[in-house]
Amino acid sequence: VSNLAALALAMAAQDDYTQGHARRVAAYAERLAQCLALRNDEVEIVRLGGLLHDIGKIAFSPQLLENTRAQLSDTMQAEIRRHPETGAQVLQRIGVARPVVDCVRHHHERIDGAGYPRGLVNGQIPLGAKIVSVADCYDALTTDRSYQARKNRQQALAVLKNLAGNALCPELVGVFCAEVRDPPHGDAAPRGRRDLREAGSPLI
Ligand SMILES: [Fe+2]
Repeated sequence: VSNLAALALAMAAQDDYTQGHARRVAAYAERLAQCLALRNDEVEIVRLGGLLHDIGKIAFSPQLLENTRAQLSDTMQAEIRRHPETGAQVLQRIGVARPVVDCVRHHHERIDGAGYPRGLVNGQIPLGAKIVSVADCYDALTTDRSYQARKNRQQALAVLKNLAGNALCPELVGVFCAEVRDPPHGDAAPRGRRDLREAGSPLI
């Protein structure tokens, strides 16, 4: 089996919600990257990072997947927190480009340093990972999950704005709220492009 086929199989093994989430996060991340006037190859890195960000969840144990209690044990929380690193290692092993791997590894970092796996702060987090974080949060907020009902767009944008400056990069949240926010199946194209490279970390 080729590496790409292996990856396709791994993604197909994810549940329907996770597959849909991966596709939407990829679409949001791609559009946000386009609004930031990233080069086409950088946009593609960010899109792939969005598509693959939760691939490490394929290693979740049956106990965790079958858990229905709201309160997770410390062991389960630790297992959840391993998924970015697990995903990054799987992708690295099959030769996925390093910038894509870094989007996956760092998509749960927070700009205040309270995220995982490394506790990086704003300037240390690759721009691609910060883009995927914004896309991931927004999709999580606007879709139904087992533990919470979806928020409407206004509510979700308000939550994103609250996360700006602590969890999420405020410049990226600003561009997302102004230009991206429509669901991926909508036909709204990004209006105008702006260069925010100097605002965040310089390179993916
Ligand atoms: Fe994740």
